[in-house]
Formats: sequence, structure tokens, C-alpha cells
Amino acid sequence: MSQSPDEPLEGEESQDLTRNKVTTRRLGLMKERGQRIACLTAYDQVMARLLDKAGIDLILVGDSVSTVVQGLDTTVTVTMEHMVYHASLVRRGVQRALVVGDLPFMSYQVNSDEALRNAGRMVKEAGVEAVKLEGGESVCGTVQRIVAAGIPVMGHLGLMPQSIHKYGTYQVRARGEDEAQELRKDAKRLEEAGAFSIVLEKVPSDLAREVSDSVSVPVIGIGAGEGCDGQILVTHDMLGICTRFSPRFVRRYASMADDMVEAFEHYLGDVRSGEFPTEDESY
Ligand code: KIV
Repeated sequence: MSQSPDEPLEGEESQDLTRNKVTTRRLGLMKERGQRIACLTAYDQVMARLLDKAGIDLILVGDSVSTVVQGLDTTVTVTMEHMVYHASLVRRGVQRALVVGDLPFMSYQVNSDEALRNAGRMVKEAGVEAVKLEGGESVCGTVQRIVAAGIPVMGHLGLMPQSIHKYGTYQVRARGEDEAQELRKDAKRLEEAGAFSIVLEKVPSDLAREVSDSVSVPVIGIGAGEGCDGQILVTHDMLGICTRFSPRFVRRYASMADDMVEAFEHYLGDVRSGEFPTEDESY
């Protein structure tokens, strides 16, 4: 029988104050128990508070802030300042979920000193509990250093949006055997380097299942099928607030853009007609 996320997991110090707090360790135990991990993104306090209230396990302050909030086409222009700012807002809204902050493009690629300093900023200035970065073998030395400094790291393989100018397309990755083999190796290397979890984006589901089964850390899929240990979506996509991109892996759980426009039009009409405000809504 599956367990609710709020119940203590076996082997966890169940009665203490951290009972409900999601930690990297707890996520590992969830994988061991076959309990699936639900993750979503947030960029501000209001959304983060609602996700936390719903019991979402992990909230990612993604560099998708660029497309969702900043209205841009890629994630490559996001800066450390943007990420620290948005992550600090999210942190304020969360009590239970694990808050992970994306390290933006070029904040960790130059060298591991710079990467460590930037990971440290995300923890000290924004208050996140872990950072995420994209890449396999080439970032493993950096992952090791950040983890050694006490900062949990989440890897990200498959489609890596920060490399969009290299790929030239957002299509499914690792369909061919060479790239699939590289991905299998990268996942293993990230696990060895100490990553506590790995995001797998837009890869064939058979490969994602195989990778999830081959590593001990939780693999969180996005467009990677149901064989992963958990799933993540961009919140504004699943709520139907952002409808500009409609990849098939996005399930729309609401049509909030339509509801919002309808509410704005209603308000507009009421203001124009003088129906808002009434006496009850005035002093
Ligand atoms: O930036 C982001 O939101 C992400 C997730 C979609 C995994 O990296």
C-alpha cells in the first residue's frame, strides 16, 4: 500500500519536528519505497505558498523564469541576480517542500570556484536547500565540489535548454544509441559525483525507465514517461496560464488563462458601467 507523503517513512526519525519537512534524504527514501515524487516550478511567494499547501514535494525555482515570467524565448540570458531574487521570494512561501534553485547559464561552466561561489549565493542569499545544474561528465568535478561544501546538487540530463544554441532544436534527445549510451554514463557519473537527484528532460520513456532503475538517486522526469521516480512540470504550463508552447508532455490541469481573461473582462465591464464599486465596497 502506498504511503501518504506526510506519513513518516520507515527508517526516518518519524516523531521529530522534521516529520513533514521534505529533505534530500527523504526523497531518496521515497524512491526506495516506490513512492512517486511530485515536483513543480515557482518564481514567487504566492505560487510557492499554494504549491506547498497542496503538498508538492519539491519546488524548483527554474531558469524557465525567462520564458514564463520574463517573456523570453530561451533560458540563456537569465542571471544570478534574477535567480537569487526569484528564489528568495519562493523561499518565503515554503515550509514543507524542498526548495531547489537553478544555477543559470554560465554561472557554473567557467570553473568550479565560480560555480561553488554561485551555489553558495543561492543558499546564503536566497535560502534554497539545493541547486540544479545541467550537464553530465563535464560538470561532475563541479558537482563534487559543491556537494563537498554541503550543498545538495540536482543534475539535469537529456534536453538541456541552456544548450539550445548548440542543439538548435527543443526536440526529444537521445533517440539514437550513441546519445543514449552517453546519457546512461552521465547519469551514473552524476550519481557517483554525489548528485541527490537527476532531472531527465524529453527523452524516450524506455531509456528514462532504464536510467531510473540503474541509479539509486531519484530521477525526476519531464517529458520522459512514467518510468521515472517522480515528475516535474512548469506550473504555469500545467495551469494553462502559459499557452504559448504546448509540448505533448504537458497535461493541462486548468485553463487559467481563459478564466483570468474572463475575470479581467468582467471587471472592465463593471468599471465602465459603474457597477463596481458598490456602496458595500466603499467607505
Ligand atoms: O527551468 C526549469 O523549469 C526546469 C524544469 C522544467 C525541469 O529546468
